[in-house]
Parts: sequence; structure tokens; C-alpha cells
Amino acid sequence: MNIPFIDLKKQFTRIEEQVRGNMDAVLEHGAYIMGPEIKALEERLAEYCGTKHALGCASGTDALVLALMSFDVKPGDAVFTTPFTFFATAEAIAFLGATPVFVDIDPVTFNINPLKLNEAIMAMKGEGGHILPAVEGLTPKGIISVDIFGLPADFDAISAVAKKHDLFLVEDAAQSFGGEYKGRKACSLGDITCTSFFPAKPLGCYGDGGMCFTDNDELIERLRSHRVHGQGPDKYDNIRLGINGRLDTLQAAILQAKFDVFPEEVELRDEVATRYAELLSDIPGLTVPTVPKGDRSVWAQYCPLAESTEHRTRIQDALKEAGVPSPIYYPIPMHLQTAFKDLGYKMGDFPISEDAANRIFAIPMHPYIERETQEMIADVIRKA
Ligand SMILES: Cc1ncc(COP(=O)(O)O)c(C=O)c1O
Repeated sequence: MNIPFIDLKKQFTRIEEQVRGNMDAVLEHGAYIMGPEIKALEERLAEYCGTKHALGCASGTDALVLALMSFDVKPGDAVFTTPFTFFATAEAIAFLGATPVFVDIDPVTFNINPLKLNEAIMAMKGEGGHILPAVEGLTPKGIISVDIFGLPADFDAISAVAKKHDLFLVEDAAQSFGGEYKGRKACSLGDITCTSFFPAKPLGCYGDGGMCFTDNDELIERLRSHRVHGQGPDKYDNIRLGINGRLDTLQAAILQAKFDVFPEEVELRDEVATRYAELLSDIPGLTVPTVPKGDRSVWAQYCPLAESTEHRTRIQDALKEAGVPSPIYYPIPMHLQTAFKDLGYKMGDFPISEDAANRIFAIPMHPYIERETQEMIADVIRKA
């Protein structure tokens, strides 16, 4: 028996009629590019997240690129971020010719450590502390915090650092749409927040999609312009560079149907995570994920830590034998990625991220997983 890591089929069975109806409506009106579903979705999701504006775009990666373009990120700029993320976070920075500067994570939340963030910025500004290899001649410009696995980063502390050093803060909420930080929704925390609607995400479409959120009237205009080739008020006079970064109307129609059941799915995800914690937390050598008081993870991934790499291999082998996928997010931290070798980092630079990469693994997590399946998975892990 093969257990799906994420069961999109079960979800589709539930929302099929609505999805097909919404798609049919698009086929009827034919406005495939920037149809009315885009604005309707933007308004609905902005309201859910509690932001003034939202802007649909073609992917989470494009959302990050658009956000950085809106802050005029360019060669010579340093943008501080976590090494423990998906490649796109750091790639967006380097794509614009700027330099990603990495800062190690908190060992419990796996999110960027605000104290180390402050130290790194001070070091770059020559205000004390050690200088990392990648920082010479760069100007601190901004921060991208990442809400890894669906848990918002420590926004209050990070935002205080951003304000102190006059840096912009982009929240990479690709994994955390639906999460909460001290009663505020994820996606409302950065100067601009970026999310992804990749199918496996908590709110996913049936292709690529993403969204930027902001409260700032000027930034939303910049984002809007960059989304369509730097368009100005006159459609054929482009006043800056941009990309073709629009969200498809069909994907927006699908997201509308998916969002109808999303708040309930967030609750179901929480129940699944609570059950995993009950089933797994007394297994010797295994650390289950925890959520700081007052916050909420949307559990994009459920990632326990094994005691060692060998322990993880044993668990993964046993899970594979039982037909249970257990992918590793993420096996290679950003500072050790081949594409970033010229930045000059080396193994040992970010020990917490490296240790997490060596011991972490994910197990199936979606709103429709059954109790018996969770019990079976826990059993296999316990025996391993
Ligand atoms: C943290 C993070 N940032 C950015 C992205 C990029 O999103 P997309 O795949 O929609 O381009 C992802 C997607 O996996 C992600 O997990």
C-alpha cells in the first residue's frame, strides 16, 4: 500500500462540483488573462489575511522577485535571509544581482534567529562582531524572513531589527498562508509578504500561482507595474522593467473553490498535527515540532527530528518499506548550494541549519489523513 504524502484527490472529490463550476464560468467569459476572478480572489484573500492590498502573480518565486523589484534591490545590495529554506528565497535575491547574506536559525522553530540577524547586520555595518565571508563592500538593504513549514517567524523581534537598521522586511509566507503570529495572520507581517499556491501548499491551485500582500499604497502600485513588464498609466509606455508575472484566471477560479473549504482545512491540519504529537512525542530520540504559545502553524510540512543521520536513515528505510514517503526538507542549506559556491561559505558556517538538514524528515500531512494511517506511521517510526 502506498500512502500519499499529500492527498489532493480526496480534496478534489469534496470540491469537484465547485471547481468545475468556477472553471466553466471562466471558459464562458473567456477572460483568461486578468479576468474578474483575479480581483475577486485578491480582495477575498486580503480580507482573510487582514491586509489592505493583495496582488495575484504567477508563482511564489515571482512574488518574491516582484517584492524585491519594488524595493529596487540591485547589485551591491545585501539581503539577509535564512539558509534553511527552499532555494527560491535566496535565488530571488541573486536573480536581481544582489547578494543573499545568510543568518542561522533557531533550533526549535527552524526560522531565522533575530539575535544573530542583528549581529550579522551590525558586523556588515562595521559596528562590531564577526564578518561573514560574503559581506565585503555590500550595503544592507533588506531582510527576507521565511515562515518555514507553515510556522510564522518571530516577527516582532525581526521587525524591530529591520526598523533599527532601516531595512525592508519581506515575509516569505510561501508555506504559511493560514498560519498565525500572536493573533495576526501570516501574510500580513512583512512590508510585503509573498505566498505560493503551488499545488502542495496549504492553499494550492492546480498549477503555479502566488500572491503578494501589503498595506502600503505605493508598494502595491510598484508591484502592479512590475507584474506586467513595468507598465505605466499608458499601457504601451513602460516606465520601468518588470516581468510577465500574472496569475492565470483559471487558477484564480480554482483557488476560489479551494478557499471555500480552506478555513475548515486549517482546523483539520491542526487536528492531524496534534494527533501526530500525541503518537510520536514519547519515542526516544525523536523530537516532534512545537509551536510557540500564541502562534499557529498551518503545517505545510510535519517535520520531526531524528537523533542522528543514522537514526533518520533507519526510520526512512522502515517507512519506505511500509509505503510511506518521508522526504527531507531541506537536505542542503542555502550556503552549501552549488549555485552559491562563489559566495564563499563553507560547511560549519551555520551549524544549526546544517544539523537540522542532517536529522530532519517529513511525514504525510494533509487535512484528510485518517487516524489509522497516522497510527500506522507512528508505529513504524517507533519500531525503527
Ligand atoms: C519558502 C519558499 N519560498 C518560495 C517558494 C517558491 O514558490 P513557487 O514554487 O510557487 O515558485 C517556495 C515553494 O516551495 C517555498 O517553499
